[in-house]
Amino acid sequence: MKLKDRVVIITGAAHGIGEAYARRCVKEGAAVLVADIDGEAGRRLAEELQAAGGKAAAERVDVSSPEETRRMADVAVKRFGRIDALVCNAGIYPLTEWEKITLDDWQRVLNVNLTGTFLCCKAVVPRMKEQRRGSIVTIASSTFWSGSPRLAHYIASKGGVIGLTRAMAKEFGPYGITVNCVAPGLTQTATVRNAYAEEWFQKRIDEQCIKRKQMPEDLTGAIVFLCSEDAAFVTGQCLQVNGGMSFN
Ligand SMILES: NC(=O)c1ccc[n+]([C@@H]2O[C@H](COP(=O)([O-])OP(=O)(O)OC[C@H]3O[C@@H](n4cnc5c(N)ncnc54)[C@H](O)[C@@H]3O)[C@@H](O)[C@H]2O)c1
Repeated sequence: MKLKDRVVIITGAAHGIGEAYARRCVKEGAAVLVADIDGEAGRRLAEELQAAGGKAAAERVDVSSPEETRRMADVAVKRFGRIDALVCNAGIYPLTEWEKITLDDWQRVLNVNLTGTFLCCKAVVPRMKEQRRGSIVTIASSTFWSGSPRLAHYIASKGGVIGLTRAMAKEFGPYGITVNCVAPGLTQTATVRNAYAEEWFQKRIDEQCIKRKQMPEDLTGAIVFLCSEDAAFVTGQCLQVNGGMSFN
């Protein structure tokens, strides 16, 4: 129970890797707010976690909306009394060739991945400053180091997330707030499986030190650690969890 009674907001937690974070954090004793634009799936997951004896609630939120992210923070406080951790996991990664990326595509990806991270942090930091304690975990991608075709807008947004993480670590450290980043490798979620052919996964495995597909559960230990008291003196870092596909 490494997160016993900690209140953790996880964005994009209704599906994919975020869902694995939510399940693991509840198992570790946290009260989790499942914050996702797919409100219905978020509600179903929160109900399932509650039925199994865990503490969870759901809120529909578009992370690119200032009003909705503020409401997300308010709901967490109303439901659970405070906010100990925020995991900025919501993200989109539409595969688009360079020639076909329109300004709208570019802005949409930046809005969700980078501005969304900024807005969620904006929403929770006043409360964390009051508490003089908090853990923020942002989510980047190993593609920041390795590069990858058809993802120029996405990789640019994740580079921004890493920069924002470092800036916030310096700014919020004096208030007892840590800010770290986790960078996943290519991970088997439904969205990824629909986007890539099997040969692509094999190529990635060839580049890894550990020779198997990466699963959402491979990432949950890093999140639990960074949201826990054990990481109270760790801040401004970016941890790549990718079976050794690329290094910092
Ligand atoms: N899967 C991978 O290979 C991989 C690799 C590196 C980084 N990542 C990052 O991990 C995170 C999760 O990826 P995933 O593969 O689980 O994605 P996913 O598509 O499986 O799930 C994303 C979740 O975010 C939600 N979401 C989308 N837009 C939102 C918005 N505007 N507001 C709130 N919620 C929104 C979706 O409803 C969904 O529940 C993303 O930030 C992604 O960039 C994933």
